[in-house]
Amino acid sequence: MPEQCRIGPSAGPGDGPVSVPIPVPITGLITGSIPVPVPVPFSTLSPTLFQRVLPSAGSRRRTDTVTVAELRGRERVITANRQTSWAFADAFVAEDEALRWARDRAREAGLPSVSPGTGAALRMLAATADAKAVAEIGTGTGVSGIYLLLGMRPDGVLTTVDPEPERQQFARQAFRAAGFAGNRARFIPGRALDVLPRLADGGYDLVFCDGDRTESLDYLAESLRLLRPGGLVCFEGVFADGRTVDSAAQPPEVLRLRELLRAVRESPELLSSLLPVGDGLLCAVRRP
Ligand SMILES: C[S@@+](CC[C@H](N)C(=O)[O-])C[C@H]1O[C@@H](n2cnc3c(N)ncnc32)[C@H](O)[C@@H]1O
Repeated sequence: MPEQCRIGPSAGPGDGPVSVPIPVPITGLITGSIPVPVPVPFSTLSPTLFQRVLPSAGSRRRTDTVTVAELRGRERVITANRQTSWAFADAFVAEDEALRWARDRAREAGLPSVSPGTGAALRMLAATADAKAVAEIGTGTGVSGIYLLLGMRPDGVLTTVDPEPERQQFARQAFRAAGFAGNRARFIPGRALDVLPRLADGGYDLVFCDGDRTESLDYLAESLRLLRPGGLVCFEGVFADGRTVDSAAQPPEVLRLRELLRAVRESPELLSSLLPVGDGLLCAVRRP
């Protein structure tokens, strides 16, 4: 029996989501028929934001049958299976005592931390960049900082900025518990836009942004100045819990995130990728 899947709207007005039967050969772990009611509100995707990545489905009739090969790479197709796979990917990495401790402190403070999947991606990106100098906006209690340090060179230094010294104190403890020497991290209390201008031009291999979402575009501008050619900038939380692609009225924070996504995607200085880990990790390399 074919898997049921939903196709999102075309960029044109009035096109709601449609259900199409997809002849998927069912293999591996998946057995039996898979009726997949898709909870993702495709009808609410912002056409302006996604016009380029979501090719028009205007020519496709509601009864069309599409093959898996045709679907590959089309973001408008999401199955419940894929959502399960995302959850699996996000929980793929086991966390140690120090990470759990930092996560618990964040939870007590009502503060979000990067997911294990996002942390693992950051760790891998820092290692890939052979990062010696990383700047972080939004220390929190140190969850993301531990992952970044794990990926950086053994002599690398993380410069991390947060206006809340008490949170940075927790992060300092967490870094110590994770086995990092005190000179591996430089804690700067303050707001990013006050602190970043004091950091050296071209002096950073990676900039991780997880501070105030309304300042995202300013973080991008500062990051382009701070990064060496070939360096990476990453923005956490760009899905905003699904609100980024929801056409209902959204707060300024979400509108700024949409502007950020467009700016990064369209910047001639950057090569970008939006990783669907955690709440969305937007990554880009500054072209050499
Ligand atoms: C989501 S938490 C960071 C979590 C952390 N990256 C982690 O995964 O463990 C956001 C942090 O940004 C900080 N923050 C808020 N406004 C900021 C600003 N203007 N500049 C720098 N940090 C800011 C908050 O105090 C908070 O600790």
